[in-house]
Amino acid sequence: MSAIQPPSRRIWWNQPIDRVEGTWIVLALVWCLIMFAMMPYWHVAGKQNLSNEAYRISSADYAAKAQAVIDKYTVRNETDRNYPVVAPPAGSDIYLIGRLWEWWPIYELEKNQTYRLHLSSMDWNHGFSLQPLNINLQVVPGYDMVISITPDSSGEFTIVCNEYCGIGHHNMLGKIYVKD
Ligand code: CUA
Repeated sequence: MSAIQPPSRRIWWNQPIDRVEGTWIVLALVWCLIMFAMMPYWHVAGKQNLSNEAYRISSADYAAKAQAVIDKYTVRNETDRNYPVVAPPAGSDIYLIGRLWEWWPIYELEKNQTYRLHLSSMDWNHGFSLQPLNINLQVVPGYDMVISITPDSSGEFTIVCNEYCGIGHHNMLGKIYVKD
């Protein structure tokens, strides 16, 4: 057999499948179908899944909505860059801005209360990764992504950007506080 010469048996594709090979093909297919069914199953039954809502929005409109919440509920300023710490009431719509290279503002939430967290980018693609939890979302300019969050533990949570976005990517950090 050589890759240069034509195969000696011209109808090589029309040979009977060995029983062992056939068994493996059937097993692999069955496993693929099980895995496929697990996707919708975990979407309903899995606690870690996020059902996203998304709307088109301009960066300017999104920034204005975020600023309105910041103006209304800022309780103090923090860090050398003077980030507002915003503590909106439970049930609020809260807007997090991703941009080169920061997450803005810092939110202070209450444990076991639900908030509608909006995510959007002012420039290009960022990734919202909430540490140490397994939450990982794309943050895309022009879209307002909404997730319902209910923090079930208190403390300080770090947001890192996990979508490479340029020279300051590794410094693109944010914070969320959760109070008891
Ligand atoms: Cu933003 Cu990487």
